[in-house]
Amino acid sequence: METRFIFFVCFIASVLVLISGVNVNCIVNFSSYICKHISNIANFPIVLPANIRKVTLFGTDFVNRSLLNGLFRSPTWTNISELSILESNGIVSIEKDFLDGLDNLKFLSISSCLGLKDIHRDVFNSTPDLEALYLDDNPYLKLPVVEEALNGRLDKLKYLSLIGIQAFGRRVVLGENFSKALCTKNLTYLDISGVKTIMLQHGDVQNVFPNVKYLNISYSLLMAGDGLQNLGDSYFRNIEFLDLTSCTSLSHYTIKLEDFNISWVLFENIRYVFAQHIMIPDIGVRLNARYTQNNIMVLNITFSGTYDFHALETMNLSSNNLEYISPSLLSSFPSLKILDLSRNQLHKMQNMDDFSYLFCRNKDLEIIYLHKNNLSVVPSNIFSTNNKLRAIDLSDNKLVFFNIDLKNVFNLTLIDLRKNRLKSLPAAFLGQLERIFLHQDSATKNGTSMTNIVLNHIQDKNLIAEKYKYGYNASDNIMLKEVQGIIPQKLTLNLLENSLICECDTLYFVKWILFTEIGIAERTTLACIYNNNDALLNTAVLEMVKDNCRLLHHIGIAIASSVAMMVSIFALGITIHLRRRKARQSHDFEILKREILDDNTKFNFVVFLSYCSQDSHVVDNFILPSLNTFLKKAFNTRKDLVCTGADGFVPGMLIIEEIHRCINESLVIVPVITPAFLKSHWSLRECVDALERHRQVLVLIEQYTDTSGTIATIKHLIGQYTRASWSFNEGHFAIRPSWNAICDGIIQTAGESFRNHRNLHRNEAVELARLVE
Ligand SMILES: *[C@@H]1O[C@H](CO)[C@@H](O)[C@H](O)[C@H]1NC(C)=O
Ligand SMILES: *[C@@H]1O[C@H](CO)[C@@H](O)[C@H](O)[C@H]1NC(C)=O
Ligand SMILES: *[C@@H]1O[C@H](CO)[C@@H](O)[C@H](O)[C@H]1NC(C)=O
Ligand SMILES: *[C@@H]1O[C@H](CO)[C@@H](O)[C@H](O)[C@H]1NC(C)=O
Ligand SMILES: *[C@@H]1O[C@H](CO)[C@@H](O)[C@H](O)[C@H]1NC(C)=O
Ligand SMILES: *[C@@H]1O[C@H](CO)[C@@H](O)[C@H](O)[C@H]1NC(C)=O
Ligand SMILES: *[C@@H]1O[C@H](CO)[C@@H](O)[C@H](O)[C@H]1NC(C)=O
Ligand SMILES: *[C@@H]1O[C@H](CO)[C@@H](O)[C@H](O)[C@H]1NC(C)=O
Ligand SMILES: *[C@@H]1O[C@H](CO)[C@@H](O)[C@H](O)[C@H]1NC(C)=O
Ligand SMILES: *[C@@H]1O[C@H](CO)[C@@H](O)[C@H](O)[C@H]1NC(C)=O
Ligand SMILES: *[C@@H]1O[C@H](CO)[C@@H](O)[C@H](O)[C@H]1NC(C)=O
Ligand SMILES: *[C@@H]1O[C@H](CO)[C@@H](O)[C@H](O)[C@H]1NC(C)=O
Repeated sequence: METRFIFFVCFIASVLVLISGVNVNCIVNFSSYICKHISNIANFPIVLPANIRKVTLFGTDFVNRSLLNGLFRSPTWTNISELSILESNGIVSIEKDFLDGLDNLKFLSISSCLGLKDIHRDVFNSTPDLEALYLDDNPYLKLPVVEEALNGRLDKLKYLSLIGIQAFGRRVVLGENFSKALCTKNLTYLDISGVKTIMLQHGDVQNVFPNVKYLNISYSLLMAGDGLQNLGDSYFRNIEFLDLTSCTSLSHYTIKLEDFNISWVLFENIRYVFAQHIMIPDIGVRLNARYTQNNIMVLNITFSGTYDFHALETMNLSSNNLEYISPSLLSSFPSLKILDLSRNQLHKMQNMDDFSYLFCRNKDLEIIYLHKNNLSVVPSNIFSTNNKLRAIDLSDNKLVFFNIDLKNVFNLTLIDLRKNRLKSLPAAFLGQLERIFLHQDSATKNGTSMTNIVLNHIQDKNLIAEKYKYGYNASDNIMLKEVQGIIPQKLTLNLLENSLICECDTLYFVKWILFTEIGIAERTTLACIYNNNDALLNTAVLEMVKDNCRLLHHIGIAIASSVAMMVSIFALGITIHLRRRKARQSHDFEILKREILDDNTKFNFVVFLSYCSQDSHVVDNFILPSLNTFLKKAFNTRKDLVCTGADGFVPGMLIIEEIHRCINESLVIVPVITPAFLKSHWSLRECVDALERHRQVLVLIEQYTDTSGTIATIKHLIGQYTRASWSFNEGHFAIRPSWNAICDGIIQTAGESFRNHRNLHRNEAVELARLVE
């Protein structure tokens, strides 16, 4: 009573103040009226200025107050359509007739009132036209109180926001009473994010959701209650926008769909899903989505029947520890434009065929984020059907080699390969980039340059969300800011923080980087390794590399002619010997032979000959021809069985792509180890790469090469594997043991390598089967 009395006095006082037209705490802004520091009735705007539609009241110093009746009874409030009462921490309850006088109110927000506990059950009787009710961040307000106030009232309510409701209370139960309060309404917008725990009684609330287009349950912990079996088709029929960011689920929230008969027409209209950092194994999906140990998520999902999520355009699954996604899952989203799979563990599937097909049905894909997935390989055909691609983000992975097929892509403007381990890029790939760039260049000249709206769409999900919020008029065009520089207008390549190499072998690439018209991110700060040292990738380095290449070229030509003759005589001599040996070829060798000579084989070569370009004169003239000749005879074929990454040494030819192909297609790695090899950063890495792919090795080492200073992997390699040593003095080449013995060794090693390969594959299959269980 005492408070009321004081209020009454204040009321009179304020009326007097207002009649005189002074309210120092309020400002008019177009049709809005904004008042701050409403700590007592004296500065409450009892009477409003003319032509106001929206009022926002901030109050900070209320203490243990009820919001009293009668504050809005002045006729100046009759036409107010939006009212927000914010940050009034001292308000404890809202009384019955509090909203009296707000006959035309459509939007009401009573939010961030830290003390609010009670809302009178009949308070909304005064506002029958209310469409939007926001009761956000009132941690002491309990859901049952709201349910009771909504029950049987507010028929026009469409927007309900209860962010963080009951945060200081027990878990929120969305059940029978929630359904009773809302099922007669046509709710299109529901935000119940940031709630400590939501217990969802699916069966009870299935009438609430069918019209909901926007659902935000992010940052909440979700528990499944009963009633899942009874779900009807219409549960989420109209949902378009789903925000599940950081939504967590208790482990027993496992929807075992084989137990139920839910048809997936449920998500027919879904367009945007934000599901980054979720901890729900079964987010609107089927069967095999599950966590293995350590919260690893495997989305091995197949939608049976004809259910397609036709409308889904945007999906954010970043930061989910995803190890596997089945292509059939993504193929259920044929309209996907923007897909964020960053910060996952997709390297676990990088060697599966499924990875190369992952996006093959997503023909509308425009932006793909794959950064931070620890990927070391990307299959060349991974984007071969995604002709609308505009941006590919593969930064912060471990790519050592990159060449993807971009044949039909014209609108690509960003390839982000920052923070990988690339040494260079293959010429074929650069050629594709040039073609794309030329196309874009001519399109610009023809006056049809591209915009970057799509990017902005996703960059700010809150902007997309605007469309679903109260007050959005379909004819309003949400202003999407142009964000320059995130996706550029013309093709740009980011290669910063890689391990680029400036050597004779990468001359083409180095030249290209320096002179291409394509945008190279921070071109002037790009570094490369030249002569085992870090250097800026600039024209000075280019000149030095060119010089080195010229030198090598001359040596190569001088020796080549004199040696060719020698080799052919040599080869003839061994033919006879080999014929005899053929008789005792084992069963193993027959299998190996079949594998190697088969046209569809994985292994096209027996040997990958790895050597340093400085040694190419010896290799090209002595080692390679002999090796090839012996092996061809042994296998009785005309097919080349030695892969070198280069068809003879041609200065300036880019051979890295070839080398990777070689490693993949060869059974045995034969490094030609010389002092130069050991000094070449690049050769060593190539060797290490090969070893990491479980290939067998046979070493050809130059006599007297000092290996004490080299890296452990190479020492180990020289110590452990079969080796032969050779010397080259004054034009005379000698090798021990004989080529015959070396070839025997290679064939034996290749056999082992092939067996390993088959076992490995078998194990992988077993492992996979185990995982699936
Ligand atoms: C006035 O309203 C406009 C648009 O409604 C808004 O951009 C601006 O920030 C408002 N000014 C103040 C002082 O609130
Ligand atoms: C507010 O009310 C509570 C109990 O309802 C009381 O404990 C508290 O002392 C009051 N605070 C003030 C500042 O009056
Ligand atoms: C409220 O709106 C009606 C119709 O638009 C108008 O006739 C009336 O004058 C308005 N009242 C006030 C107080 O602005
Ligand atoms: C549902 O509402 C009824 C009264 O309307 C109440 O007795 C009951 O406790 C409520 N149930 C829950 C779970 O809040
Ligand atoms: C619910 O609202 C949607 C669009 O807001 C409308 O298309 C639909 O007819 C409404 N349904 C009912 C039962 O009022
Ligand atoms: C599921 O329901 C469909 C029709 O709605 C029916 O054709 C199908 O047989 C049912 N499946 C199971 C496993 O009950
Ligand atoms: C990245 O992948 C490699 C194997 O390819 C693995 O050894 C390493 O642990 C992975 N790193 C992380 C952070 O997952
Ligand atoms: C490329 O962009 C232009 C302009 O934005 C668009 O008209 C065209 O359809 C796009 N092409 C592809 C293949 O997506
Ligand atoms: C630009 O116009 C020229 C002829 O004016 C045409 O040959 C070329 O194909 C056009 N380029 C694009 C991308 O439309
Ligand atoms: C996806 O979510 C992450 C984490 O919330 C965010 O950083 C990223 O920008 C989102 N991706 C897109 C494409 O919006
Ligand atoms: C969903 O709710 C969270 C937490 O309340 C909020 O941060 C986020 O912006 C909301 N999402 C959208 C799209 O508005
Ligand atoms: C995915 O599930 C299918 C069966 O539904 C199974 O055959 C396949 O091996 C699984 N793949 C992975 C990688 O779990």
